[in-house]
Amino acid sequence: MFVRTDPSTVQDPRGALAEDLERARRRSRALTDAVDDGDLVRQHSSLMSPLVWDLAHIGNQEELWLVRDVGGREPVRADIDHLYDAFRHPRADRPALPLLDPAQTRAYTRTVREQVLDLLDTVSFDGRRLVEQGFAFGMIVQHEQQHDETMLATHQLRAGPPVLTGAPPPQSVTTVDGEALIPAGPFTMGTSTEPWALDNERPAHTVDVPAFLIDRAPVTNARYQQFIDDGGYHDERWWSAEGWAHRLQARLAGPAHWHGDGSYTRFGRRSAIVPDEPVVHVGWYEAQAYASWAGRRLPTEAEWEKAARIDPATGRSRRYPWGDDDPGPEHANLGQRHLHPAPVGAYPAGASPAGVHQLIGDVWEWTDTWFTGYPGFTAFPYREYSEVFFGRDYRVLRGGSFGTDRSACRGTFRNWDYPIRRQIFSGFRTARDPHPGETA
Ligand code: AVJ
Ligand code: FE
Repeated sequence: MFVRTDPSTVQDPRGALAEDLERARRRSRALTDAVDDGDLVRQHSSLMSPLVWDLAHIGNQEELWLVRDVGGREPVRADIDHLYDAFRHPRADRPALPLLDPAQTRAYTRTVREQVLDLLDTVSFDGRRLVEQGFAFGMIVQHEQQHDETMLATHQLRAGPPVLTGAPPPQSVTTVDGEALIPAGPFTMGTSTEPWALDNERPAHTVDVPAFLIDRAPVTNARYQQFIDDGGYHDERWWSAEGWAHRLQARLAGPAHWHGDGSYTRFGRRSAIVPDEPVVHVGWYEAQAYASWAGRRLPTEAEWEKAARIDPATGRSRRYPWGDDDPGPEHANLGQRHLHPAPVGAYPAGASPAGVHQLIGDVWEWTDTWFTGYPGFTAFPYREYSEVFFGRDYRVLRGGSFGTDRSACRGTFRNWDYPIRRQIFSGFRTARDPHPGETA
């Protein structure tokens, strides 16, 4: 067997789970302690919840799944469930609800967490699928980290002076140009064994993928600027019908947070656009238009995953482009260590055997594929995590961003959003079919 360093797969994952829970909580606290109470309850964008809603919702999900369901304990606050049910109230309506105030919210999340850490010491991981290998705890770690990334996106939309800091990302140490050929053949997509994999990543299944070529790096700001300079936003030829209609209606002229003068604003700081960083804050429609302009297309989700996981030596699907080891700081720009993508060529240790770089981290990558269930999908443990979003509304994004924690990022991990959305840390890379004879 290969080496697995994922903390959730070691004999007794309790210590590692407690650390993961605490790491998530340190991040939630940092994101919410950075602003004052007025800022916490304010809605910074109609696309986002007030930060205080995310924080209480994190605690409420933890209470519902761990304190009540896994632990079988009495509710901490049964009276507030409806306020933090994402399906009861759309984001735009949340500021008007009688939410817990910041002090009440902090006290609530603390009380829930004390109970959960107590429970983690004593609960049996046998006998119920929900807790097998600590799954429910892993699910809640990932849930908190996902909302932390959402809160980070809220920070990007927030007006006012900067409050967040991050170390500069590593510099580029190698040139990453052109594309990699991924030969035709079946590969295993998804997983049935990864302990914390969510329902939409399951089950593992074989997909026969024809040969394709994929960019060795995400599309950079410099390349994207060429598309803009060539009039890409004013040339209907490159856009889908819906994309063009949206382009006109939303008056898109470039990525969100670009000012049109070679500068952008990131977390309240305006600076010159760095040419060799992956472009971020573009929607699926823009990604698709860029790809058409470049004479290319977006990769399908299966192509993306095959490029990220296939080991050409064995034909086996691995957990990450570099192998089965958990992501370290040398592999990928994850975990909000840095407040923006790193330049292309900054993570040679994270490249795949075929030489595809920065598949994990930096920017979520739009794929051509609608979000649907894999063959044999069953909702677990609740339909509202994935299944209610299946269909032709949402496109799949892969790979995680600089704002994604490693616990919520794998070669199999699936994210999704509406094609118009760009408040998330979304970028892309392009692909194409081989020319005749190119695969020989
Ligand atoms: C997987 C990021 C689309 O934020 O809507 C959080 C994750 N699900 N709470 C989202 C999620 C329930 C989800 N995404
Ligand atoms: Fe949630």
